Amino acid sequence: MSMSDLAINGGKPVFEGKGAIDLAPAWPIPYPETEEKLSEVYRSGKWGGVKKYEQLLMEEFSAWQGGKYSAWMANGTVTLECALISLGIGPGDEVIVPGVSWLATAEVPIYLGAKTVIVDIDKETFCIDPAKIEEAITPRTKAIIPVHLFSACADMDKINAIAKKHNLFVIEDCAHAHGAKQHGKGVGYIGDIGSFSFQLSKLMTAGEGGCCTTDNEEYFDRVFRTSHIGNSRIHPAVAPTAGMLCHQYRFTDFQAAIIYDQLHHQDELKAKRAKSAARIKELLKNTPGIVEQKSSCADDDRAFYFYALRLLLDHLKPGIDRAFLMKAFQAEGVLLHEGWGRPIVDMMSWNVPWNLYVKHPTPVCEETMYKSGLFSMGNLLLADDAVIDKVAEGIDKVMRECAE
Ligand SMILES: Cc1ncc(COP(=O)(O)O)c(C=O)c1O
Repeated sequence: MSMSDLAINGGKPVFEGKGAIDLAPAWPIPYPETEEKLSEVYRSGKWGGVKKYEQLLMEEFSAWQGGKYSAWMANGTVTLECALISLGIGPGDEVIVPGVSWLATAEVPIYLGAKTVIVDIDKETFCIDPAKIEEAITPRTKAIIPVHLFSACADMDKINAIAKKHNLFVIEDCAHAHGAKQHGKGVGYIGDIGSFSFQLSKLMTAGEGGCCTTDNEEYFDRVFRTSHIGNSRIHPAVAPTAGMLCHQYRFTDFQAAIIYDQLHHQDELKAKRAKSAARIKELLKNTPGIVEQKSSCADDDRAFYFYALRLLLDHLKPGIDRAFLMKAFQAEGVLLHEGWGRPIVDMMSWNVPWNLYVKHPTPVCEETMYKSGLFSMGNLLLADDAVIDKVAEGIDKVMRECAE
């Protein structure tokens, strides 16, 4: 093998014809039983209000995720907002978030008049760096929002210990982590409140949707009331506390029916993604210059919303960078991209006035998003084993020429 064997230089590609992502199931996966449920909901007329599939999700999604309660809402942004409101966070408070996430994680504290404090991520896990949380705590800090990012879980042992020491709330952003567990406990139930998104690209989706999770009955009641204009599902006859200003963020039973059916396919899909990720990891174990996004804890049971890799920049040959490698992988038929491409504060839609947030130095966020992170959507991992093996072959072929 030599550089001229790479498809980018005119060599024969590993995938001839269709590329790897085109050989994986298209996302989202439609299920025939859902069509029946959608017409059942349609004919029932009970599209909103107190509804069948929402109630079933409150019971069965919570149980599957490993906890007691879930409150369902319009999306995974208002869930974060309702979680913070329920914990009393508002003007004068500070909320610590990682510098790599979707915008919502960092914008929601600002919606409530609180200040967002952005800190660095861990180089290997891509999740918030617990040491950087401690450095950013002030007397005004009220909460931390760790994000279980891409395919990994944040280090909840360390984060919960810091929160306990400084009397802070922990809101887990689980938008990427449906079904993920740490030490056998489902994410979303490890901190005080969890927040899930069911937006179109997510592991479970109704196009849009969200839920807050918690084992704490009081938090659940507050989060439910906050999102359901003050009404309670567990104490329907009791009025909300005086002065509790609530939103109307309900979702519909059409969304619930779609997610409800997906729930029954989750264990199988999650196991397949994990098996494929383990297979690629094993096949790349001697490949120079590239490693998988690492788990925070050895027993993390990961969900793989994205499949994420990290380039070892010091191992790349002179003149090789991520932009070249992305093109080289693409030429082989392996589509690896730069994710959403930027740390939060560099995203095009981040137009938040500088005085509403604090940004600590985030060199790892910048390195990950601009130089070393490589990503694929998780549905790639649902492809047949033969495709997965060729994905590893394509990555290995390119890296052997480009790294040492
Ligand atoms: C990490 C993270 N948090 C929150 C959200 C917000 O979710 P939604 O789009 O459902 O509002 C998203 C994504 O969309 C996300 O990726």
